[in-house]
Amino acid sequence: MASNRFHVLLLWLSLCVALADEVAVENMYIGLDDILSPLDSNTTHPSWLSSSGHFAFGFYRHGDGHGYAIGIWLMGGTTNTVVWTTNRDDPPLSSNSTLQLTVEGLLLKQGSDDRGQLYVPSEPAGSASMLDSGNFVIYSQESSSFVVWQSFHHPTDTILGGQNLTILNQLVSSRSTSDRSTGHHYLAFQDDNNLVAYPINSSGTASDAYWAFRDQNIYHGTEVAQLSLDAKGYLCFSVFQCLANNTNQQIKQQNTSSIYRATLDVDGNLRLYEHLFDANSSSSLLVHTNTVWQALTDECQIKGFCGSNSYCSNTSGNARCHCYPGFVPYNNKTSGGNAMFLECKLNYSKDDCETSGGRNYNIVSLEEMQWNYDYPYWAKLMSMEACNKSCKEDCDCAAALYTNGRCNKYSLPLSYGRKAPNASDTGMALFKVPSEYVIRKNTTTSSPKNPNAIVNNRRGLILILASTLGSLSFLCVVFVVSIFFIYRSQVHRFTKLSASSNLGFTEECSLRSFSFDELVKATSGFTEEVGRGSFGAVYRGTIGENSKRIAVKRIEKIVDEGEREFRAEITAISRTHHRNLVKLIGFCIEGSRKLLVYEYVSNGSLANLLFKTKKHLPWKERLKIALDVARGVQYLHEECEVRIVHCNLKPHNILMDELLTAKISDFGLARLSKPELLSIRPDKNEVKTGYLAPEWQKEALASVKADVFSYGIVLLEIVCRRRSIEVNVPSPEEVLLSSWAYHCFATEQLHKVVVYNEDEKQDMDWKTLERMVKVGLLCVQDDPSLRPSMKNVILMLEGWKDVPIPPSPSC
Ligand SMILES: *[C@@H]1O[C@H](CO)[C@@H](O)[C@H](O)[C@H]1NC(C)=O
Ligand SMILES: *[C@@H]1O[C@H](CO)[C@@H](O)[C@H](O)[C@H]1NC(C)=O
Ligand SMILES: *[C@@H]1O[C@H](CO)[C@@H](O)[C@H](O)[C@H]1NC(C)=O
Ligand SMILES: *[C@@H]1O[C@H](CO)[C@@H](O)[C@H](O)[C@H]1NC(C)=O
Ligand SMILES: *[C@@H]1O[C@H](CO)[C@@H](O)[C@H](O)[C@H]1NC(C)=O
Ligand SMILES: *[C@@H]1O[C@H](CO)[C@@H](O)[C@H](O)[C@H]1NC(C)=O
Ligand SMILES: *[C@@H]1O[C@H](CO)[C@@H](O)[C@H](O)[C@H]1NC(C)=O
Ligand SMILES: *[C@@H]1O[C@H](CO)[C@@H](O)[C@H](O)[C@H]1NC(C)=O
Ligand SMILES: *[C@@H]1O[C@H](CO)[C@@H](O)[C@H](O)[C@H]1NC(C)=O
Ligand SMILES: *[C@@H]1O[C@H](CO)[C@@H](O)[C@H](O)[C@H]1NC(C)=O
Ligand SMILES: *[C@@H]1O[C@H](CO)[C@@H](O)[C@H](O)[C@H]1NC(C)=O
Ligand SMILES: *[C@@H]1O[C@H](CO)[C@@H](O)[C@H](O)[C@H]1NC(C)=O
Repeated sequence: MASNRFHVLLLWLSLCVALADEVAVENMYIGLDDILSPLDSNTTHPSWLSSSGHFAFGFYRHGDGHGYAIGIWLMGGTTNTVVWTTNRDDPPLSSNSTLQLTVEGLLLKQGSDDRGQLYVPSEPAGSASMLDSGNFVIYSQESSSFVVWQSFHHPTDTILGGQNLTILNQLVSSRSTSDRSTGHHYLAFQDDNNLVAYPINSSGTASDAYWAFRDQNIYHGTEVAQLSLDAKGYLCFSVFQCLANNTNQQIKQQNTSSIYRATLDVDGNLRLYEHLFDANSSSSLLVHTNTVWQALTDECQIKGFCGSNSYCSNTSGNARCHCYPGFVPYNNKTSGGNAMFLECKLNYSKDDCETSGGRNYNIVSLEEMQWNYDYPYWAKLMSMEACNKSCKEDCDCAAALYTNGRCNKYSLPLSYGRKAPNASDTGMALFKVPSEYVIRKNTTTSSPKNPNAIVNNRRGLILILASTLGSLSFLCVVFVVSIFFIYRSQVHRFTKLSASSNLGFTEECSLRSFSFDELVKATSGFTEEVGRGSFGAVYRGTIGENSKRIAVKRIEKIVDEGEREFRAEITAISRTHHRNLVKLIGFCIEGSRKLLVYEYVSNGSLANLLFKTKKHLPWKERLKIALDVARGVQYLHEECEVRIVHCNLKPHNILMDELLTAKISDFGLARLSKPELLSIRPDKNEVKTGYLAPEWQKEALASVKADVFSYGIVLLEIVCRRRSIEVNVPSPEEVLLSSWAYHCFATEQLHKVVVYNEDEKQDMDWKTLERMVKVGLLCVQDDPSLRPSMKNVILMLEGWKDVPIPPSPSC
């Protein structure tokens, strides 16, 4: 074992020597006057080559043949392999574009139009070079060995030998092999040192991740986790932790040389490629390309390989996407050839479900389906027959998955489904298909447009009528029987409720109960979505004669079993009255539908105010907002009848009214989602969002001190006006706001934590800033017992109480 490690160490040492050698080789310098242009001419060339001739930087033809893009590619073979692209989502450039190295960077022009500098290096540029490693570097004017900008620090979908992937950058796949614009997946380091792949537009939580690898190294100070590819094809986190070893090393022939690249491919899979070149030929002839390693062997494991409402199946080693029963292809663009990213839409309207109560539907099934990464909005233990029926009658139910005696109902869109014949956690997927559609499908095969079809349709109608009447009488019996049982259980429930200290609604509760139809009308059919919280979408609406504005929250992600708990929670919420809390007006419970009606708060969220708008926020205003939020949290913790732990405090669910008074929303719901929802989530390792207190990772118990932690993060965000985790920062130590703020505080450089311009300079209130930062740092202590109570937070912010010197947040 030890000798093995020593061996690898030697390999690394030899690599370092090799890299040093490479630097010593005379580079081909590009001077300030050199100009690139897509078309060859006497004074310009389309690209700048590396001295080995393997890599080129410059204009390459855009996939569709119209226009050009700027990037770096590996020469050879029938098509060059593009390994880097700049401004990948910009429209293609015309043939009269030019690119020139200037003191300020790389100047792009289209005809005579100045399109600005592509890069602005940290210091004046003097020269540039396309290195043999595939790195394009710009050197400073002062010294031609000082690199002021390099393409290796800005990867697109590929890293090359000598390049590192860190928390500061990420790989984003390309849309297709010919279109290098932003595609469907990304791979990024999280601040917990996990390298994780996600579909691009997903919410980036553990349930969206499809591949992850944890960097086991422990980092200190400003070191960050990184994945490195070396020139010999080792893709490693460190010497001892490799993803891919180049095992072909020994059998490689002497007359070839290799270049390695790791690419997040179009399909979302990370692969390591080896390009073999003829070592002896001066023309750098590409001999062969091998796939050395890939992250996933079955593409169906890649979430987002198939688009919405389609599922993946691996037949004879080929992953393919298919529409679910009752759906038809929606985007044909990519369905030819390889059907990845196939998206499907319902082939019927679900409007008539409301009127027919689901009678016009049949259930069609698909076996061995794995779906456990998309949350059901409803789940219950029941027989399959009851599950069939339950989905039929529920107009929100697009499909159900019956697994281990449990019925999981899903609404549209359906994502991440896959047929997995050999997996253990699969179930029978049940789809609702209009019965008329099934019958018509059966008859159209004979003769589509002749009178027979009408007869057949009429026969179908008779069939429906007959079966309806038949089932109607059956239903009557069921109805009578179930009424009896429901009555009994209601009596039972009622006694239980009154026994457990009156959790039902009483007169003192001023909540209004709405019918679903009323809310459909109030929101014009849920058309105007104003936001999306952890529990479902929020819609704008109006009620009453004076058109009072309301916000209606449709609770989707709650398991149905807890109706009693749901009522108890809204009773608790309804008893909160505080100017810094969003007021609950009413609710609606009809079957599986659960909706909450809130007062409408007009000025958007605090997140929007802090991070999106450029509005100047005076220090008085920031302190006021911080105090508003603190008072709301303190009320929840200490002043209302039932202590409420928010559990999800962040600027996104703090709303601002017209006078910029902050109002907390989404409180009181946390208990509904736990443990019920957690128990059906496949992965409890919820990805850190920055707001969750560290003890959440260890135990599920919510304490008020967890809210104090989240409050501390929000407070620091209000002061610094940046997110708690920010990737686009000049240096790695700035990524995490809490440690950066502590660093600035400890080194007495608090001016560094805020960004302000000349106008705002007069307004700077350093005393208030320091006080707020200190309180924030006290709140974000890893050890919950070191965090102050909300009451003390308020006293300290108001200046009634001295703020102690905060220790370093992490213990
Ligand atoms: C390019 O060079 C060739 C020969 O050296 C000359 O005939 C031609 O006119 C030149 N073209 C331009 C645009 O200068
Ligand atoms: C050349 O550049 C000009 C802008 O200066 C632009 O209007 C024109 O369309 C371009 N010509 C071609 C062929 O793209
Ligand atoms: C990659 O990481 C290694 C080791 O930390 C470092 O020496 C090297 O400079 C990094 N490469 C680049 C391009 O930053
Ligand atoms: C992701 O969302 C953006 C913005 O809504 C959209 O333009 C893009 O097409 C989406 N990408 C995919 C792969 O769906
Ligand atoms: C790579 O090689 C190292 C050392 O030989 C070994 O410890 C590690 O398990 C290998 N990793 C893989 C993925 O083969
Ligand atoms: C390159 O070619 C020369 C002569 O053609 C041969 O002697 C030499 O061995 C070759 N080098 C390699 C690495 O194959
Ligand atoms: C490398 O050399 C071997 C024999 O020495 C030969 O068979 C093979 O074709 C050569 N490969 C290339 C790419 O020249
Ligand atoms: C996909 O299909 C191929 C060929 O049938 C098979 O070798 C492979 O194991 C399958 N993958 C999975 C995960 O079932
Ligand atoms: C979609 O694809 C199917 C099958 O490939 C084809 O029959 C149909 O015409 C296509 N539709 C459109 C709108 O391109
Ligand atoms: C979609 O539904 C229509 C009837 O509503 C039917 O004619 C058509 O065949 C269906 N398409 C598919 C692909 O099943
Ligand atoms: C539920 O519907 C599916 C699809 O029609 C059927 O295969 C299954 O037998 C039904 N289950 C019961 C218990 O009725
Ligand atoms: C379709 O027609 C065949 C024969 O006409 C019949 O046996 C079958 O039950 C029909 N299927 C449906 C879904 O009605």
